[in-house]
Amino acid sequence: MSKKLRLGIAGLGTVGVGVAKLLMENAELLSARAGQDLEIVAVCARDQRKDRGIDVSKIGWLTDPVALAQRDDVDVFVELIGGDTGPAYDSVVAALKMGKIVVTANKALVAVHGVELSALLNNYGGQLFYEAAVAGGIPAIKLAREGIAANQIDSVFAILNGTCNYILTTMEADQRDFDDVLQGAIELGYAEAEPSVDVDGWDAAHKLAILTAICFGGAPDMDHLSVSGIRSVTLQTISMADELGYKIKLLGFAARDEQPFVAACAVPKSSSIAAVDGSFNAVVFNGRPVDEIMVRGRGAGEGPTASAVVADLIDVARGILPPIFGGTPTNNVTQRSDVMAKQMVTFNVKDEPGVIAAISDCLSKSGLSVESMLQRAGDGEQAYVMIVTHPTDASSVSEAQEILSQKPFMHRQPAFYRVVASEQL
Ligand code: HSE
Repeated sequence: MSKKLRLGIAGLGTVGVGVAKLLMENAELLSARAGQDLEIVAVCARDQRKDRGIDVSKIGWLTDPVALAQRDDVDVFVELIGGDTGPAYDSVVAALKMGKIVVTANKALVAVHGVELSALLNNYGGQLFYEAAVAGGIPAIKLAREGIAANQIDSVFAILNGTCNYILTTMEADQRDFDDVLQGAIELGYAEAEPSVDVDGWDAAHKLAILTAICFGGAPDMDHLSVSGIRSVTLQTISMADELGYKIKLLGFAARDEQPFVAACAVPKSSSIAAVDGSFNAVVFNGRPVDEIMVRGRGAGEGPTASAVVADLIDVARGILPPIFGGTPTNNVTQRSDVMAKQMVTFNVKDEPGVIAAISDCLSKSGLSVESMLQRAGDGEQAYVMIVTHPTDASSVSEAQEILSQKPFMHRQPAFYRVVASEQL
């Protein structure tokens, strides 16, 4: 094949090596699908002597990603360095200022600098592809931006962080505490030694900000996301939720006219997303007229991430050039305060007369109605109570939180988990 798309790959870590391997091993298939050869002309990484399991001897080697981005013989700059500042940011901006096409797996960069990157595309005429940035090997961007482009999207909710999903699944399966499972995951290399980006919800938040922009308009907006993680989820909560028919999942959630959030949520055990366990990711879209779609797959790792990056390269070769965030008109409607959702509330209280009556009184004063309830004895001094409410609005929940937090019988502040369910459930 004589036509060639000339690639410069910056970053030869797990993902960069995965992309290079896939391009080399599947070269013939990819050329056929892309309609031209996908040729790596140069790479950029620090240590040229390191054995990465790929032959880079015939490929140009640079140590400066900006220089790679600016090379005349690089048509597509593939940024696989990571991070929203420093070399990743500098090199992507340099490439876009030359009107080049950039393919990246960098969720933080796209989520934090979406507005600026979008302006660079408008000003200089380049393109930015980032399928691998959200849910790794799952083609979530392509599905949202192209596959269901005809729909009015009502909501999207998703398991976007494999580390958290692995921790929650393992806590339940092995009946172990959060700290114990996290430590084990770090020792096995499943979680980062500094796990806060994952367990405090930020990795999922970057991905959710991107999905929100595509589904509901505008550019990714990290400032208006509410973000919390899974550190406060206890084994007690997981096992009581199980008895009431729920699982706890860290979800990214966005819906029309609602503030998007990342938080530990309760999902009915009968729902499809509840069955997405271990390090898997899943994204559920609810749209009209398509109804509900769920995609599940591996959200990270060499192969799945490379699959998404190379799919973008094929799109580039085919001349498929979608608008960066899908062109959805910005939604200026005021945020609704009347959205109704069930809440799962956990209490750790003094085990003494009148406590359940007092909790019930607080809930009813705020307009919250109990759907189901479970109590477990603690050490004789304390008890654990879990209540699932009927659907209620956000201001009633805030009022209940305020009243309950002042009660002297609380050992710990009650924790509220929104129940997220498919429309049909
Ligand atoms: N650390 C992420 C996860 C993968 O655990 O899912 C990269 O976004």
